[in-house]
Amino acid sequence: MVTAAPRGQFITLEGTEGVGKSSLMTALSEWLAAKGESVVTTREPGGTATGEALRSLLLDPSNQNLSDLTELGLMFAARSQHIFERIEPALARGDWVICDRFTDSTYAYQGGGRGISLALIAQFEAVTLDGFTPNLTILLDVPVATGLARAAQVSAPDRFESEQHAFFERARETFLRRAETQARTKIVDASQSQANVKQSVVSLIEQHWISVQGDHP
Ligand SMILES: Nc1ncnc2c1ncn2[C@@H]1O[C@H](COP(=O)(O)OP(=O)(O)OP(=O)(O)O)[C@@H](O)[C@H]1O
Ligand SMILES: [Mg+2]
Repeated sequence: MVTAAPRGQFITLEGTEGVGKSSLMTALSEWLAAKGESVVTTREPGGTATGEALRSLLLDPSNQNLSDLTELGLMFAARSQHIFERIEPALARGDWVICDRFTDSTYAYQGGGRGISLALIAQFEAVTLDGFTPNLTILLDVPVATGLARAAQVSAPDRFESEQHAFFERARETFLRRAETQARTKIVDASQSQANVKQSVVSLIEQHWISVQGDHP
């Protein structure tokens, strides 16, 4: 008899600019693959052809006339396609999915940063995601100035990175406040060395995995 593969785990990496999300995703994916797990790494906005086209619109610094509500709608449109086309099929076949940013970034950037009400974002989330949520979220936290300095070394500022310092302070604060209310979210001090950040996160994933297996013996 063929038994269905157990559902995969959906892990999201969150935090403001330059905290180390993309570097960590690569390190975690290598660690999981070395353990023999199938891993899908992806990012938001993006992850599908449609989502990447929307990402280009959203991140293009010359696209200055986008309304806040249009930005919010495009984020959720990209996310809806991402879940449908990429994330859900991978989880259903038993793969781990690691995603660089997800809905918490929408609360932080469009909510905290832009000032859209968190209640309105929650309505978009309810309609678009219908309860779909990560199994574990790692919030990498570092002072805004440190992260922006790191990000500036990697590439020219995109439409979000061109925002003022205060925008990112509000985003960071929103991430941290949300984390207090979400048991799935673990805050990691990202001012540590990359090796220490990775080790801290590996420990959190191992603890998470033990708790999941305990739930489903
Ligand atoms: N813990 C760390 N200590 C020092 N430098 C780091 C650390 N983590 C990442 N970096 C470096 O900081 C830069 C930004 O890292 P990375 O691109 O992973 O951040 P990010 O969170 O994905 O940024 P963005 O939000 O802009 O996509 C890279 O040059 C990376 O090597
Ligand atoms: Mg990145």
